[in-house]
Amino acid sequence: MKLPEISAALLLVLIPTVYLLSRRVLDSKRKEKGKSFHLPTPEEALPHWKGKRISPVSVFDSTDPANIQCYCPATGQSLGKFPAHTRDDMNVIIDKAHKAQKNWKSSTFSQRRTVLNTISKYINDHQEQVARIACRDTGKTMLDASLGEILVTLEKLNWIVAHGEQSLAVSKRPGPTNILMSYKGAEIRYEPLGVVAAMVSWNYPLHNLMGPIAAALFTGNAIVVKCSESVVWSSLHFLEIAKEALRINGFDEDLVQLIACWPQDADFLTSHPGLNHITFIGSRPVAHQVATAAAVSLTPVVCELGGKDPLIVLDDVTDRTLEGIASIILRGTFQSSGQNCIGVERVIALPNSYNKLIPILEKTISQIRLGSSIDQQEVIDMGATINGTRFDMLESLVQRAVAQGAKLVHGGSRYSHPKYPQGHYFTPTFLIDVTQDMDIAQEEVFGPILLLFKADNLDHAVDLANSTEYGLGASVFGSSKQTLSDIADRLECGNVALNDFATYALCQLPFGGIKGSGYGKFGGTEGLRGLCVEKSICYDRFPLVKTTIPRPLDYPIPDATKAWEMVKAINQVGYGQGIWGRLRALQRLARSG
Ligand SMILES: *[C@@H]1O[C@H](CO)[C@@H](O)[C@H](O)[C@H]1NC(C)=O
Ligand SMILES: *[C@@H]1O[C@H](CO)[C@@H](O)[C@H](O)[C@H]1NC(C)=O
Repeated sequence: MKLPEISAALLLVLIPTVYLLSRRVLDSKRKEKGKSFHLPTPEEALPHWKGKRISPVSVFDSTDPANIQCYCPATGQSLGKFPAHTRDDMNVIIDKAHKAQKNWKSSTFSQRRTVLNTISKYINDHQEQVARIACRDTGKTMLDASLGEILVTLEKLNWIVAHGEQSLAVSKRPGPTNILMSYKGAEIRYEPLGVVAAMVSWNYPLHNLMGPIAAALFTGNAIVVKCSESVVWSSLHFLEIAKEALRINGFDEDLVQLIACWPQDADFLTSHPGLNHITFIGSRPVAHQVATAAAVSLTPVVCELGGKDPLIVLDDVTDRTLEGIASIILRGTFQSSGQNCIGVERVIALPNSYNKLIPILEKTISQIRLGSSIDQQEVIDMGATINGTRFDMLESLVQRAVAQGAKLVHGGSRYSHPKYPQGHYFTPTFLIDVTQDMDIAQEEVFGPILLLFKADNLDHAVDLANSTEYGLGASVFGSSKQTLSDIADRLECGNVALNDFATYALCQLPFGGIKGSGYGKFGGTEGLRGLCVEKSICYDRFPLVKTTIPRPLDYPIPDATKAWEMVKAINQVGYGQGIWGRLRALQRLARSG
């Protein structure tokens, strides 16, 4: 090792060590310890499970429409059937949540932290178990689960434990500017809304369920999570973690509720007057339905609708850096088989980087191994997709792109796995020479397809980045801090990572998009506050000083002209520009009383 490498390695060990030691001192003062518990691993998630394969593979069985067929997308094995919730069930569920919230709303932050710490401890102590459950239901790999489910969920839980109380502390505001009313103090208190709902996508069943649960519980709300019909099996297991964490700490498990229903009953849920807030994560067409239904009971909605996130690579990076960027591009594109709201959908590179990236990316993409990582001994790089419903569309997008002038370097079609013919696999796909006018450049792919665009210069790169109807996230890579920061200003989107991918989410910043990617934010301080009634309270700052209606303004008004002159003087004193004018107005005011 060269000297700089040694010192870098030393720093890598030293900094966390110092940090952990200092945290130990702080942690020992932290009162709320998470409790330990254990839930059995379902046999379906155990190694060497031999489950029956179904055919045709679908969540819906027309001969049995009351039940949702759960199955493993990587192998086609049945995970059992679960009755879809009916409208009557939903009434009962929402009612239970309301009853439980009555006590919970006055719980202390310390009690709420105990519950969150208990969930966090469970996940940390049972990483393999929860990852295997997530893999079994979505077909992703253990590594995808470990990064995309476990790490991000633990960060969210721990961030709320560390900063949630401060986010919800009474917020003092400046009060009026009028000097005559400067005795008024003003503040905002954050109170629970009641029962909130989260309608979440299937791509991260642990994270998408536990994130909203953590935020809801910490803000004193009860929550109803509506999971996708594709991940009912795992969602039930993950819900049990939250329920048990509540139970063993002496709280009502009814605070967290799960609903799994067919699309035709979803409107009943979203228009339900018992919900006080809805967070919706899903597609745009469905968002229109959700917002329309929610309008029936005027329930506020936050919408996160996916994107077509660009990742820009400038030309001022070294070859060595470019290798690292290529690795990030691959993880950002192929993690969870590309089924990420903030996945890299478009790589936009300046000419030099463009040319150098092609061989690096091609080499790795051609080596990606597909399969079921929890069933196979060999290393698996990429798992299955949730189902094969969109394969026709993906193949047609690729074919049209080629017809429109793109070059297909790898993949482009579905893949029949020799071991798992019932599994849903799509070959990792690499298209270059992609241009803005192609359909594939505009439509969200949500699959394992890497699109490379060449930008002539920096302005062109920004134009390309802004050229879709979406505006969720973006990444920019380059070596000049100033240039990166300027580009961040020019990108039309809600979240930007500089020299990184998607880490704004890990930072627990408020998360959400603009344009076709939706509206509203969840996560971070704003996300927690969004689940609260922001109650505005004003009060008198000094004893004995308080508002009284002066006699000239009191009903019945003794003299209309005098009354008018008095308020006019108050306005001049309070808002006049120029000290002499204001002093004269003060004199008039004194006389008018
Ligand atoms: C495929 O997955 C989507 C998303 O969960 C779901 O709406 C659809 O019903 C599924 N299709 C089949 C055939 O299982
Ligand atoms: C983003 O790029 C578009 C062109 O695609 C341009 O019209 C727009 O002004 C850019 N936005 C900003 C904020 O620079």
